[in-house]
Amino acid sequence: MRKCNIAIIGLGNIGSYLYNYLKINKKILIEKNNCIPNVKYVSAKNFRKKRSIKIDKKQWLRNYLDATKIKEVDLVVELIGGAEGPAKKLVFNALKNKKHVVTANKALIAKYGDKLSKIAESNKVNLEYEASVCGGVPIIRSIKEGLIANKISKIHGIFNGTSNYILSSMDEYNKNFAEVLTNAKKLGYAEANPTADLNGDDVSSKLKILSSLCFNSFLNNNIYVEGIKEIDKTDIINANKLGYKIKLLGFAESIDKKFYQRVHPTLVKKESHVAGINGVLNAVIIDGNPVGQSIIQGEGAGAAATTSALISDISSILRGNIKFPFSISSKERKKIRFCNIDERYFSAYTRFEVVDKPGVLSNITNIFSKNRVSIKRLVQNPDKDKKTSSIIIITHKSKDKALKKIVKEVAKKSFIKTKPKMIRIDED
Ligand SMILES: NC(=O)c1ccc[n+]([C@@H]2O[C@H](COP(=O)([O-])OP(=O)(O)OC[C@H]3O[C@@H](n4cnc5c(N)ncnc54)[C@H](OP(=O)(O)O)[C@@H]3O)[C@@H](O)[C@H]2O)c1
Repeated sequence: MRKCNIAIIGLGNIGSYLYNYLKINKKILIEKNNCIPNVKYVSAKNFRKKRSIKIDKKQWLRNYLDATKIKEVDLVVELIGGAEGPAKKLVFNALKNKKHVVTANKALIAKYGDKLSKIAESNKVNLEYEASVCGGVPIIRSIKEGLIANKISKIHGIFNGTSNYILSSMDEYNKNFAEVLTNAKKLGYAEANPTADLNGDDVSSKLKILSSLCFNSFLNNNIYVEGIKEIDKTDIINANKLGYKIKLLGFAESIDKKFYQRVHPTLVKKESHVAGINGVLNAVIIDGNPVGQSIIQGEGAGAAATTSALISDISSILRGNIKFPFSISSKERKKIRFCNIDERYFSAYTRFEVVDKPGVLSNITNIFSKNRVSIKRLVQNPDKDKKTSSIIIITHKSKDKALKKIVKEVAKKSFIKTKPKMIRIDED
């Protein structure tokens, strides 16, 4: 029977779980793939570190880069992380030396995926990265294989478990951002440094990868990114009263032959599917022709879910055949121009905390009409003791550029107490 010699580099959270999984499930994987997954070598940074897994001394590579040079290694699994440094060196060298590569590293694929796929294609080896986007949700293989028949016009959804946990907990327990974040760290749902999860960068990397797969294009950095740090309890309460939930969503879409990529907090109707995805779950919604709308949801992170995706990639390699990393050949991938969202139309929720005195409301609404943004709904919540008022305005669909301009103009007014808010509404 055929055998595939595997080197697992990186034995942290994910690497050690994968190592154990391959040990325990070797027999069933052989039956399913008709090929033996043989973990020949492993490596990590610190040779002396105490690990939860039992490693045979003969398996340990002192220099992780040896995995890319040893002739008998067929497949390198990169589980170090980061777009630069050792992970980058490992994956580039492995592909150059004609080794198949499986990685869970979204940062690396989002930055160097185009270059890496060209090397993989010319050396006729596979580069698989299912685990890099939405952990256990099999979205990449679904786009490349299950949905191959379709022209995809839009992909959107919840691609970050940490931010979804924070927003849904703020909603469920009526708590503010800082309180929920502290708790998320304690529970292990947020890293010690959760910046990339909260500022939208993590979603941005995943969206770039999905977008290029959906539109058969090269990776593109023209993406609007806004995180959740400025969402407060009042916005969540207001959204509920208005019939919405707030979610951090990523969107890649083609509208009238114009392409957009964007990541931002979004008001979604309470009865929508995405509104009901809570906690650390991820959900991906694809609109394609002829299939219509498909939704996949599940665990977006964690060792178990990520290993599920890694095994899918490893199995694909065990079964053979060389596949294009980005679905089609690099020669056929297009250079799409993604547009700035300034020209895209949105309805929006805006909130202004003001000094409660005559003339303020008309001053604000005048700025809306001057910028040709019409108002769909206006709610005013005065606080008599503090002599302040909270003005919430829901707009009709208007150019994003105009919405941003209004918020900027109102922010300069002397009657404004705190930075005004603008959250886009998903109405498509
Ligand atoms: N954690 C998740 O839920 C999750 C979900 C999806 C995707 N991912 C991705 O999976 C990858 C691994 O994540 P993780 O959570 O397992 O990370 P981790 O726990 O921090 O493990 C990283 C591993 O890389 C090793 N390493 C670091 N620098 C190295 C170097 N210079 N040479 C060789 N090995 C080195 C470390 O060695 P030592 O053990 O000796 O320190 C460690 O074993 C990342 O790309 C991450 O984005 C993670």
